[in-house]
Formats: sequence, C-alpha cells, structure tokens
Amino acid sequence: MARVAYVDGHYSDLGRTTVPVEDRGLQFADSVYEVIALVAGRLIDLELHLARLSRSREGLGLPAPMTDAGLRVVLDEVLRRNRLRDGLLYLQVTRGQAPRNHAFPARPRASLMVTLRAWSPFSSSLASGVAVVSGDDLRWQRCDLKTTGLLPNVLAKQHAHEAGAFECWMVRDGVVTEGSSSNAWIVRKGSVYTHPLCEHVLGGITREVILELADANDIEIVERGFSLSEAGTADEAFLTSTSSFVVPVVNFDGTDVGTGTPGPVTCRIRELYRDHVYGPAS
Ligand code: PDD
Repeated sequence: MARVAYVDGHYSDLGRTTVPVEDRGLQFADSVYEVIALVAGRLIDLELHLARLSRSREGLGLPAPMTDAGLRVVLDEVLRRNRLRDGLLYLQVTRGQAPRNHAFPARPRASLMVTLRAWSPFSSSLASGVAVVSGDDLRWQRCDLKTTGLLPNVLAKQHAHEAGAFECWMVRDGVVTEGSSSNAWIVRKGSVYTHPLCEHVLGGITREVILELADANDIEIVERGFSLSEAGTADEAFLTSTSSFVVPVVNFDGTDVGTGTPGPVTCRIRELYRDHVYGPAS
C-alpha cells in the first residue's frame, strides 16, 4: 500500500512528497523531531512525546507550526490514510523556508512533516539480546534537545554496524552517556544504573516510563553515569528507545555481559514495559 506523508497542509504519496531546498531543516538541521510508536492502532505515550517536542522547540526558540490540538488532528489523519495498526510515526518541525542565512528569519513560519512506516513492536529477533560497542561521544552540548543534527549519532551507529553490533554506547569524559539512538542501562548487584538527565543525554520517553514502572514495582534505579569498565563488568545491560522498547545487551565491546544471555532484571523490566504498551496479560 502507498505510504502517505503530510507536509504543511498537504497529504501526498510519500514517494512524490518534496520539501523546499531552502528549508532550514535541510540546510542547517534547524529542526526538531519525534518518533512515536503506533501499537494496535494507538500512539504510545503521545502526551509525553508532544511535551518533549515542545521542550525541544522552545530550547531552540522555534515557533510551533500549529496548536497541539491541530497536531493531533494531523496525526490522526496520517494514521487513517496509512491504515497501519503497528508502525513508527516520525514527525519533524523545522524553522521553515527562508533565503540561506544563519541568523533566524525575521518572521519564521515553522514547517511540519509527518511520515509513518510499518514496524513490528517487540521484535523477537531482539529479545535474545544484542551486541553493543563503545565509541567517543562527539555530540554538542544540548543533547537534551531532540534535534535533527544527528551526524555524530549516525557515525556512531555506523561504527556499531561495521563492528557487527546493534548499537554504539557513546563515552564522554570516561562516562557512558547513551546510545546513538537509545538510552543505556546496566545492572550491578541488583541495582539498575542509567545516566542522569542533563545536557549530555536525551530524556528518552521510554526511559521516563521505565523509571515510573520501576518505582511502582520496587526495582531500584540509580540515575548515575557509569564507566566503560563498569559496563564491561556489569551483571546485565540493556538499552531502551521508542523503536526497540527494551532490548537486552548481551555482549559489550566483544565480551559477554554476565552470562551472555538476557538477565532477570532486564527481562522483568521488558515485561513491565510490554504490559505498559499492551495492558497486563489477562
Ligand atoms: N531515538 N537517546 C537518543 C540519542 C535517541 O536518539 C533516542 C531515540 C533515545 C530514546 O528516546 P525515546 O525513548 O524517547 O525513543 C535516547 C529515536 C527512536 C530515533 O532517533 O529514531
């Protein structure tokens, strides 16, 4: 079935959808984005994603393309036209079209683009765990904003793929910040560790929900950065993101993590997250 995209008031076949050459998102990565999971026809944690979109926009002084109510109408229409039950919705807001000049245009008109693609939640190929390698964190000082300036993340992910791994955990000042497109977690002696929120990490929506689920289920999570050697000698490790949910990490920099199989704390968190997405199994 043809995929339908939305760009600034128009719904059209994705293959024929174009954006202007002088869009600032294209020329300066002057734009922010969200990726939202569609599961069984429902956008998971839409409220949290829209709130983060606003935070990212405000962090760049980027105007809203429309109200949140208007945005929801567009998203519903994209879902309706694409007729998918499970998918990944991508939405991007740019500072719009203007003659190329670094400074903001005097009267920017934000652009909104939305696409949706088929995707399988809780892919069984990831359930048995993945390999992760480490690499330098080459990013800027505002990684808390979800911007499309993703070249360091692209290079990190490519580094992982060339090493036969699924993800690259990026290291700044000896501390693992996060993955190229996911948050990073380890388990040591029953406690779970992940980097605290700051300008060096993205506040993942999956991360945020897991913190709440863990709190409600007596799983101790410590928001503290961990070193490469702590990651290498962890009992368990996992990564989280909208597009992969909770994925066990069973090999880190070529060495098995723990037993080299998904650990009990990771599996428990994965189950809790699955219940969050689908509702508890009856
Ligand atoms: N990436 N950290 C980075 C650098 C990310 O790019 C992402 C998400 C996350 C996890 O955030 P969330 O749980 O809200 O998805 C953490 C998305 C999926 C992407 O760029 O495709």
